[in-house]
Amino acid sequence: MKILVTGSNGQLGSEIKDLANKYNESDFFFRDLPNLDICDLDQLNKFIHTHMIDCVINCAAYTDVEKAELNTESAENINSNGVLNLLKVLKKVNGKLIQISTDYVFDGKQTHPYNELDPVNPIGVYGKTKREGELKVINSEVDAIVIRTSWLYSSYGENFVKTMLRLGLKKKELSVVSDQQGTPTYAKDLAKVCLDILCSENQKIISENGKLYHYSNDGVVSWFEFANEIMKLRGVKCKILPILSRDYPSITKRPHYSVLDKTKIKEDFNIRVAYWKDSLKECIIALSKN
Ligand SMILES: NC(=O)c1ccc[n+]([C@@H]2O[C@H](COP(=O)([O-])OP(=O)(O)OC[C@H]3O[C@@H](n4cnc5c(N)ncnc54)[C@H](OP(=O)(O)O)[C@@H]3O)[C@@H](O)[C@H]2O)c1
Repeated sequence: MKILVTGSNGQLGSEIKDLANKYNESDFFFRDLPNLDICDLDQLNKFIHTHMIDCVINCAAYTDVEKAELNTESAENINSNGVLNLLKVLKKVNGKLIQISTDYVFDGKQTHPYNELDPVNPIGVYGKTKREGELKVINSEVDAIVIRTSWLYSSYGENFVKTMLRLGLKKKELSVVSDQQGTPTYAKDLAKVCLDILCSENQKIISENGKLYHYSNDGVVSWFEFANEIMKLRGVKCKILPILSRDYPSITKRPHYSVLDKTKIKEDFNIRVAYWKDSLKECIIALSKN
């Protein structure tokens, strides 16, 4: 199987790159901007045909939630039109797609974990454009699934864990939002899930039983609790102070609750979901080796 990973220099793409040698029955192609732009249909078409790609894991996205509020057109282009381009080409070659989406498609008003049938209602541009991308996949005839995930972090790229450690080493106190709850996800765990789904015999399940799946680590936590655990595991003395979302300056509205129910992905693909603190520990160890 020939697997193309788009947006491969980001958090998830980099983790897939690290794991790929364990899936040595497949050939991997890792591409990112400027060499492969998912918004460029001709470039995509040429690449997928030339390399006879069977599957794409689309890690390319406009992920800056704050900037998306101001750059709606770019966010829409990458998160929705780019996905449509992938589907157009994959349809021609009868290829498969794993598209990654987000907990930000929900408005956060629910108080129990969101499953795949719960109604979406994105409250920001990022979530709206990611939802548009999901709909492109759901309405296509391509053998594809969408995996929604939440609060992604990794030893690669920019993320909450690395920001907290960087600031925590400089400051004595940090204020962190305590009234938004969700579940962190180690991108390495999600990378393994994507590869297991594509490379196992399960791959024929890919278009049955609905195209949407939820995956995050296990547990429920606020950003405040998450920050405390990061400092504790790394032995950083910085004091974390709880604040309310309304006191945190931001142009972006974020869901107050976005815990994902993982029952479907666990049952359909026999996936084990790690507890968030265990995965965080693993990432902190990986970071300490860098
Ligand atoms: N980060 C989170 O907390 C989070 C939470 C839930 C879901 N997700 C979803 O998870 C997936 C992976 O996220 P991530 O955190 O790994 O993202 P990331 O680190 O921001 O990586 C995205 C990569 O895509 C590249 N890219 C942007 N536009 C592109 C284009 N037109 N063509 C090809 N590549 C392009 C980016 O390049 P540049 O850096 O040069 O733009 C970057 O290397 C995304 O679908 C995201 O929406 C993320």
